[in-house]
Amino acid sequence: MQDKSAPSPEDAPKAGLAADETGVPRKKIFVKTYGCQMNVYDSARMVDVMAPSGYTEVDAPDEADIVILNTCHIREKAAEKVYSELGRLRELKKEKSGRGENLVIGVAGCVAQAEGEEMRRRAPAVDLVLGPQTYHRLPEYVARLANGGPGIVETEFPAEDKFESLPAPERRKTLARGATAFLTIQEGCDKFCTFCVVPYTRGAEFSRPLSRIVDEARALAEAGVREITLLGQNVNAWHGDDGSGGVATLAKLIRHLARIDGVERLRYTTSHPRDMDEELLAAHAEVPELMPYLHLPVQSGSDRILAAMNRRHDAESYLRLIERIRAARPDIALSSDFIVGFPGETEEDFEATLALVREVGFAQAYSFKYSPRPGTPAAGEEDQLPEEVKSERLARLQDLLGEQQIAFNRACAGKSMKVLFDRRGKGERQLVGRSPWLQSVHVEDAPESLFGEIVDVEIEEGYRNSLRGRLRQAEPILA
Ligand code: 5AD
Ligand code: SF4
Repeated sequence: MQDKSAPSPEDAPKAGLAADETGVPRKKIFVKTYGCQMNVYDSARMVDVMAPSGYTEVDAPDEADIVILNTCHIREKAAEKVYSELGRLRELKKEKSGRGENLVIGVAGCVAQAEGEEMRRRAPAVDLVLGPQTYHRLPEYVARLANGGPGIVETEFPAEDKFESLPAPERRKTLARGATAFLTIQEGCDKFCTFCVVPYTRGAEFSRPLSRIVDEARALAEAGVREITLLGQNVNAWHGDDGSGGVATLAKLIRHLARIDGVERLRYTTSHPRDMDEELLAAHAEVPELMPYLHLPVQSGSDRILAAMNRRHDAESYLRLIERIRAARPDIALSSDFIVGFPGETEEDFEATLALVREVGFAQAYSFKYSPRPGTPAAGEEDQLPEEVKSERLARLQDLLGEQQIAFNRACAGKSMKVLFDRRGKGERQLVGRSPWLQSVHVEDAPESLFGEIVDVEIEEGYRNSLRGRLRQAEPILA
């Protein structure tokens, strides 16, 4: 699809745009990502999908011919933030037009899905409103706009599979960035937690077929990616076509991917406690490539609130599940999401959350004040809590989670661990990597040649958000 809609080589390049040797004008795209890792993946794919039309990515809006805000609607005043960013972009569009240049402004992702037509009414500078299921059509829409077509709003959940319409894996190979990558394997959610917009903005659960995921993972590994994080709103509910008439589970997929040459590390996020099955626990015990880290949102420790949230599990079943996970993989680091101040939450309910946190001991976690999302059942509840109560509870929960995180990181001091170097640090010879437990590890005096390698590092100190270590030996060890 992207090839069909790419401007033909005969199209005259626009003023101020250089053309490459094929005659395709060289243009620039800037994508600003809000929210979750799935949006990070989607943003990268939007850049990929525009490449055949001559677009390269830039990291500031000023230089861009297209700016896309890839938005998130999960919490807070997401839409308001987007509108204020659009105010700034409108000014930029005016400035550019004064210089005879064009700027296409697009809004993608979940706010686009939720706002639809309203977005162009409130912000007429927006040319394109694109829901998360349709960004593979971006080249076609941009070509239409470039030819003077009217603004476009596309928030359908089209029957065609957007994954199938995206660039083939070989293209991803050339476009992979660095040693770690996200790979979306599943989208949407059928769980309908009463606070959550995802089932409405991302639609019903959909699993990509096993063979497509394996192809994409292979291409990433060939491009130097060593660690792949499988993404899905409900990733452990993945049940893809296994290519021989059956349905595979996430555990099977993980075992397939672990056999690919070059794939040294695997992770998956985000999971629902209800979908953690025995097979997946066995994979944690038996697949060395599956890293000892699990993000397993619990949201609350109160059974009353969990029921009101429609979470389909209680505190006790979550705790027993954690025991089984730890029995399978004793060194696993646990992470979670929490919501405080859900409608009707009492002090006692909140204390049950604190008690659950004390009992589990998390290596890290995300915690949020409940934010009513229009159209979700909980937003219509009458017993909404005052902002001060939410803030006070959030502070108490974050103190406790912070203590646990620091304790976890400090306990790493003196240990040796394998670190995948995936970023350059601030210092000249500083590299930053990831531990198996997803901590950032800063190492001084690390040669550039170790970039993208998995190396033994001795941890000297643990801080709240990172570790500091030194190389145990100069030569890379491929785990
Ligand atoms: N208010 C606050 N937090 C929310 N989350 C999802 N919806 C809401 C909401 N309405 C949190 C949940 C979820 C994470 C991605 O965001 O904790 O797991
Ligand atoms: Fe939202 Fe996750 Fe609940 Fe699905 S399982 S409705 S994505 S919180």
